[in-house]
Amino acid sequence: MTTASAPGKVILFGEHAVVFGVTAIGGAIDLRAKVTVQDMPGKMLIEAKDLSLKGFSLDLASGRLMSPQAEHAIRYISAVLREFGARDLKVEISSCLPLAAGLGSSAAIVVAAVTAISSHLGQHLSLKEIAMLSHRLEKNVQQGLASPTDTALATYGGYLQISDGVIPLDLPPLEMVVGYSGVPHDTRSEVEKVQELKKRYDDAVGPIFQAIGKISTRAVPLIRDLNSAELGCLMNINHGLLSALDVSSRELDELVHAARGAGGAFGAKLTGAGGGGCMIALPGRDGCQPLMTAIRQARGMPFLVRAGCQGVRLEEWP
Ligand code: PMV
Repeated sequence: MTTASAPGKVILFGEHAVVFGVTAIGGAIDLRAKVTVQDMPGKMLIEAKDLSLKGFSLDLASGRLMSPQAEHAIRYISAVLREFGARDLKVEISSCLPLAAGLGSSAAIVVAAVTAISSHLGQHLSLKEIAMLSHRLEKNVQQGLASPTDTALATYGGYLQISDGVIPLDLPPLEMVVGYSGVPHDTRSEVEKVQELKKRYDDAVGPIFQAIGKISTRAVPLIRDLNSAELGCLMNINHGLLSALDVSSRELDELVHAARGAGGAFGAKLTGAGGGGCMIALPGRDGCQPLMTAIRQARGMPFLVRAGCQGVRLEEWP
């Protein structure tokens, strides 16, 4: 039996502007997807019991599917199995990451699956090989639309600076609260909306991207110093600029304002493509509890996370 786990991610600063070459900062978080592989002669079975959605299982021989929500995860696992020509296996998936929430759940599943399946078959891939293969597979399943950010963060962990390529940043872990709006988001349509806005109002939207890029650059030394008060201010400005690009939503704004108000956060912003999905907030002087409560009261689902955590790893069995 072989098990690997890989982290989800948050974009701390710079989403959308990064599509136009401006710097963004992403961090791996300690919510992980786990994939376990074991031999099962004569059968191929993919099973998931505690995805953040409902549990499901699929028997590839009979095509029997217990829960249609699971199609998402199955497509990624099937792509990995096909890539390795794997047979006679049972693959179990579990994940603490909500799907389609901008927390990199698909990338975490693909990276954990590539690592577990390759290792089970005796092929020991380097991190670079895992990141490249996982990106290719995720991109195929998503029909061409996947930046290498999520799979790189799921593989290497820590923090990455994203502009033309991805550069690892040596920064300390940062505690924050993620609030899931409960509304699935659609990255493609949000990106297209911003592209359209840029086309129509280039002279207004261009400077917004530049300002976002400056925020990402200024944030790096502040994360190094764990200067939450200043980072919080930058998050608030970044959220305002993302709202100007029309990628926030009523639900996200309510969570952001609850976090800053009753939650006492130093700052809060949406994370990822927006339109739905998640926001992030930096706990204020009273810590995480009031923040978690405020997000819950605003009808969000709070997760306490640490950004900058470990990338993919093989798990030991007792
Ligand atoms: O949907 P997410 O959370 O993976 O975020 C996408 C981030 C964008 O900047 C909007 C798009 C991208 O490819 O960088």
